[in-house]
Amino acid sequence: MTLKEAGEQLGLLMGTAVMAKHLDGDLGELVAREFSVLTGENEFKPGRVHPAVGAWDFAGADKIAAFAERRGIKLVGHTLLWHQQGAGFLFEDGGKSVTREVGLRNLRDHIEVVAGRYSGRVLGWDVVNEAVSDDAGVYLRPTPALSAIGQDYIVRAFEMAAAADPGAELYYNDYSNEGVEKREKCIDVIREIKKAGLRIDAVGMQCHLLLAEPSAELIEEAISAYAAEGVKIVVTELDVDVLPRKAAGGADLSKKEMAGQNPYVAGLPGEVEEALAQRYAEVFEVFRKHREHVSRVTLWGTHDGMSWLNYWPVAGRVNYPLLFDRGLAKKKAYAAVMDVLRGA
Ligand code: XIL
Repeated sequence: MTLKEAGEQLGLLMGTAVMAKHLDGDLGELVAREFSVLTGENEFKPGRVHPAVGAWDFAGADKIAAFAERRGIKLVGHTLLWHQQGAGFLFEDGGKSVTREVGLRNLRDHIEVVAGRYSGRVLGWDVVNEAVSDDAGVYLRPTPALSAIGQDYIVRAFEMAAAADPGAELYYNDYSNEGVEKREKCIDVIREIKKAGLRIDAVGMQCHLLLAEPSAELIEEAISAYAAEGVKIVVTELDVDVLPRKAAGGADLSKKEMAGQNPYVAGLPGEVEEALAQRYAEVFEVFRKHREHVSRVTLWGTHDGMSWLNYWPVAGRVNYPLLFDRGLAKKKAYAAVMDVLRGA
């Protein structure tokens, strides 16, 4: 049995993030065999598809979309609006904020072109990524979109996405949004969208986890809190960092640690391999228990060698965050996930 099949029996989509270059050869075959849904790891991001004013590049995104269609796999679009890897020129000109009117027009053009191009072909879009602040007492992260348009930029993006692809599910996606404070802010986002009479289908919990935190209890509480708002939960970027970090968890791209340890270059010790498997088992227990509300779990990558955690938050480390090893063999963590999915 594959992850795809085991997930299907629970009504749970099992996904992986891929780059266009990962779809050839053995890795492509493994992806098509094991997973029911793909997310482009970078290829659909604003700065990739829209690198400069009036310039568009869909080569990578089209390759992923075509592979998904050919192999009967669903596709998630990631993402229409993000302050990282962004198309900064949508909201700034010569380092200065554009007017609200120009910002809205640029955002609409961007979403119409991108979501319009894949209309009818994606299961859903991460419409807005990482908009709420990590800082206590601050609702939204200060970004060029916020400065140009104002606080309703999120609501407007959802409106534009719904217009560009009426059949696509619409998600608000963030990291560390199992933590209570950030969770409350994400709930405010959901409420604002609904209050405007617009649709939000799910909240994306990225779930870039460490071995010990956040706790499975906190993740479970967050799932229940979001479900109580009448939205589904999609786990969008699951991985488990086994390496030491100076700071706590999260996935803020700007928070690079300048130095760090790299203890497992020669391989992962047995007890850490076991701890990783246990960690995967405990979070999948939660997803399984709440499968009425959790519709998808996507791993952020397929095998350890391709994970972003080899280069973030410290460049050049050897990490082991996923279910397949560098030789594409199933890890203990794979078996642990499979056991949970099959109720063993
Ligand atoms: C990461 C990719 O994995 C890297 O290849 C890229 O260099 C930076 O972005 N949150 C997100 C993802 O929403 O888009 C990020 O992906 C990881 C954190």
